[in-house]
Amino acid sequence: MSEEPSVRDLLFQAARQLGSASEARWVVEHAMAQAGAGGHVGSPGAGGHVGSPGAGSPADSAGAGGHVGSCGEPGRHQTARQLSSAGSRSAANAVVMARRHQTVPYAVVDAVHDIVERRLAGEPLQYLLGAWPFRRLELTVDHRVLIPRPETEVVVGHALDELERAVAEGGDPWPAARGPGRAWRTDQPGQGAGGGVLAVDLGTGSGAIALSLAVEGPGLLGGRTLAVWGVDDSPDALAVAQRNLVATRETYPAMADVELVEGDWFEALPRSLLGAVTLVVANPPYVSEAEWATLDPEVREHEPRRALVGGPEGGEAIDRIVQTASRWLAPWGVLVIEVAPHQADDVALQALVHGFDGVLVRPDLAGRSRAVVARRWGAR
Ligand SMILES: C[S@@+](CC[C@H](N)C(=O)[O-])C[C@H]1O[C@@H](n2cnc3c(N)ncnc32)[C@H](O)[C@@H]1O
Repeated sequence: MSEEPSVRDLLFQAARQLGSASEARWVVEHAMAQAGAGGHVGSPGAGGHVGSPGAGSPADSAGAGGHVGSCGEPGRHQTARQLSSAGSRSAANAVVMARRHQTVPYAVVDAVHDIVERRLAGEPLQYLLGAWPFRRLELTVDHRVLIPRPETEVVVGHALDELERAVAEGGDPWPAARGPGRAWRTDQPGQGAGGGVLAVDLGTGSGAIALSLAVEGPGLLGGRTLAVWGVDDSPDALAVAQRNLVATRETYPAMADVELVEGDWFEALPRSLLGAVTLVVANPPYVSEAEWATLDPEVREHEPRRALVGGPEGGEAIDRIVQTASRWLAPWGVLVIEVAPHQADDVALQALVHGFDGVLVRPDLAGRSRAVVARRWGAR
């Protein structure tokens, strides 16, 4: 009889050390998958988000925890995500249970101990696993990028709702853009002769938002093509986004074209896109320098400061985006920007001052104001 421990023994031990059964399951699954010992029993996030501070929104992350509350009024794009997540969770649990009596090689035991040690020293679970789910995606994440947050999954749901609405209500959202001399070029990704819809993700990081739009957006557009631009000023982050783009295209070959560009917010985009973008989504850094100093060490010491701090006051990056966005949008275009709850009213007011016709504040699943939706021509 082998002296190697069983999956169950390993899970119990890791859970005791980590104080979390779900984290233990992911760590054990990850170590087994890495060693090729029994394979992966489900994506790390299939079991839902851990309640680690790192899973919470940075602005709330004085330990707000990662679980998304069930209150609020999710749109239909959020509801679908919750259902699919719950289904994956029970499937993954079933596989773990089925394997609980199997033994694991010592290489896996050592790998689990190593991860547990680093976790207990404060490294975010997501970086230790090297991958994290976001809506329908499984993203590579490491110290070069912000860990995608559940709040942002909800913001993407709002953005998809807006994209669908803008295209449906706007009909042809860029009628003037077809004439000679306009920016609308057929050699841009997704802009075929029949016209296409453009979306931009500012501060793309891991690519979480851009890639979700590219995977989930095409089905909402009545047959139009979609092209998504992802912008970041960090070459390191763009390298991660590029890797995620390649992997996502393998999983979803029919996804929209995605162009990743380096630069400072809108300045990274070709001027040919001025006035032609239907949707701008941004999750910019929005924590102030003072708030950053008080963040949980798990966030402050491991995630890129540049992805968190918007400036001395926090709202500087948001201000720049809101002040410029309407120039880049098509007549029925819309800006969806993630904010900290206490910033929402000011940002909404800013949008009205800077060329938007209608503004709404949307909640996250805990009911906190989390996204400002600023529409051109016709909020209802
Ligand atoms: C809060 S993170 C968002 C990452 C990803 N979109 C998400 O939601 O998980 C903000 C991102 O903005 C990028 N960023 C910061 N300042 C920028 C700037 N001036 N121009 C472009 N990107 C910037 C950071 O590198 C970081 O990747």
